[in-house]
Amino acid sequence: MPDVTRTQVAVVGGGPAGLLLSHLLQRSGIDSVVVDIRTRREIEEAHRAGILEHDSVRTLVDSGASERVMHEGAQHDGIELAFGGGRHRIDFAGLVGASTRLYPQTEVFVDLADVRERDGGDVRFGVTDVSVHDVETDTPAVRFTDAQGVAQEVRAGVLVGADGSRSACRRAVPEAHRTQYFREYPYAWFGILCEAPPSAEELIYNHSERGFALISQRTESLQRMYFQCDPDTDPEDWSDDRIWEELQTRLQSNGCTLREGPITSRSVLPFRSFVQEPMRHGAMVLAGDAAHTVPPTGAKGLNLAIADVTVLADVLARAVPAGDLGLLDEYTERALARVWKAQYFSYWMTTLLHRPPEASPFDVRRQQGELAALVSSEAGSTFLAEAYCGWPGGR
Ligand code: PHB
Repeated sequence: MPDVTRTQVAVVGGGPAGLLLSHLLQRSGIDSVVVDIRTRREIEEAHRAGILEHDSVRTLVDSGASERVMHEGAQHDGIELAFGGGRHRIDFAGLVGASTRLYPQTEVFVDLADVRERDGGDVRFGVTDVSVHDVETDTPAVRFTDAQGVAQEVRAGVLVGADGSRSACRRAVPEAHRTQYFREYPYAWFGILCEAPPSAEELIYNHSERGFALISQRTESLQRMYFQCDPDTDPEDWSDDRIWEELQTRLQSNGCTLREGPITSRSVLPFRSFVQEPMRHGAMVLAGDAAHTVPPTGAKGLNLAIADVTVLADVLARAVPAGDLGLLDEYTERALARVWKAQYFSYWMTTLLHRPPEASPFDVRRQQGELAALVSSEAGSTFLAEAYCGWPGGR
């Protein structure tokens, strides 16, 4: 027989979504237990995107989850779009009075894991054999073997699946009760970390005939860069010299030169758009990547997860004390409204900037025309700035 723990909310997944939810719930006086099959170390070492929207920063700061984001995260008041031989700035501050912060997901995770530890949160990393049960009753449960090898069961009033893009919770919803929307893209990103100073003050989204490249940053001495590649690319087939030549060629077509340095990490990131609706089934709700995936262009993934759990914490603060699971429908409606706007934006940024494998010269010139129309129009630039910085106030 497993050891049984009773709590109000059981959370499967201890990434940023699961930990932030459990932090926000504690502030409303609601207990939770979080479990994750990964060790804390494994989650810390996963390189993910690095841009936080205005409201994501507010949520982390106002809830007391992170002060570091204000000291160590760099404020970005715009981005550059490079195309057709030149560079064009989108001025977020001037257009929509907002900004983003460059603060990598692993730092968000570290802050949240620290704050849960400080507040005595029950977070169990490195567990195995996770399974969810009784989600159609009002006492759903998660069973697992803990890091010491002991069989455990956590029984709760609500179960939250925040277990990422390969979510087991998502699969616990019977087919007749869910709809899945899916789109693949014929390209991927080759991502590197390199020891070099920044090449520009802000991020550069670079369109070129050889395909897209993104010049992002991490610290004064470490940079993150990506270039569009074939999804079947093996990162080990690429020498440092070949990577630099590809990046420099794409950027030089628009008059930029990159500062080079030793490449310390390389990987290929797949592109996918995915949504599972609704985000509730019985006493279980899904949050973050468990319910939806966006392609990385525009860095919406983590921001959507933060927006989901902000809404979810608000709904659970009413639903749990009242014992009213019907209120969970409000979560799925409010969250999905934003999810689909972000799906559209991520798709649009992706198809605007990437070269389809069979692109004709017309297709490339048409994209340049679209980019020129965008940067020369205040309305167009404002649309981009508003979506990139995040639609305010949960709109
Ligand atoms: C990143 O820094 O990893 C990053 C930044 C902007 C994006 C995507 C990824 O649009």
